[in-house]
Amino acid sequence: MLNDILTRRSTRKFKNKVIPAHMLEVIIEAGRYAPSGCNVQQAHFLVVQSKSVLAKLGELVQQEFAKMEPTDDMPQTVKNNIAGAKAGNKSFHYNPQILIIVANSVDNPNAMADTACAIDNMMVMANHINLGTCWINQLRWLQDNEVLIEYLQSIGMKEGEKVYGAMSLGFPDTANGMPERTPLARTGNEVTFVE
Ligand SMILES: Cc1cc2nc3c(=O)[nH]c(=O)nc-3n(C[C@H](O)[C@H](O)[C@H](O)COP(=O)(O)O)c2cc1C
Repeated sequence: MLNDILTRRSTRKFKNKVIPAHMLEVIIEAGRYAPSGCNVQQAHFLVVQSKSVLAKLGELVQQEFAKMEPTDDMPQTVKNNIAGAKAGNKSFHYNPQILIIVANSVDNPNAMADTACAIDNMMVMANHINLGTCWINQLRWLQDNEVLIEYLQSIGMKEGEKVYGAMSLGFPDTANGMPERTPLARTGNEVTFVE
């Protein structure tokens, strides 16, 4: 179990290879069995397998970021996304086999934390069965964007929900087909034992 956590790394290049149903099922199950504040279980997993929906999401994210102008109060990562979109980047999700979008109720004060628990469970589970994942944040940065909300509702997101995170999933496009697994050194994440 610890090894699955220690060796989980982000995958940003995927093979065009179908994920067998039994593999997808255990990953979704890992997400659904994540804890949630007050056990509200309000995460909504939109499992996008359609290439045309993935392409449309790529177009819309690029289009909507490209309309924005960077401001001083924006996180650097959002400024980077705006710059990337203006340069024409349409593959914010790295063209995975599947994109799992995690929406949650806007009334849930723990929506972000619950989403993070679900996505991390899915990332560790996927690593355990040799699939690659990457957290994808652009749909969360655009969670209040009307164009994206309308499109996401057309593919199943409900009224009163917003996107809090997403995860690309697929077979890693590496020489041996395995995910990159070299752990990154921990230079942060300080620990203080209090006695
Ligand atoms: C909240 C969060 C948001 C992230 N957003 C993105 C993203 O939008 N695109 C991306 O390529 N990676 C994203 N990542 C992946 C991080 O860049 C990555 O986890 C980090 O660089 C450490 O590398 P590792 O996952 O290989 O250990 C995100 C990770 C987290 C936890």
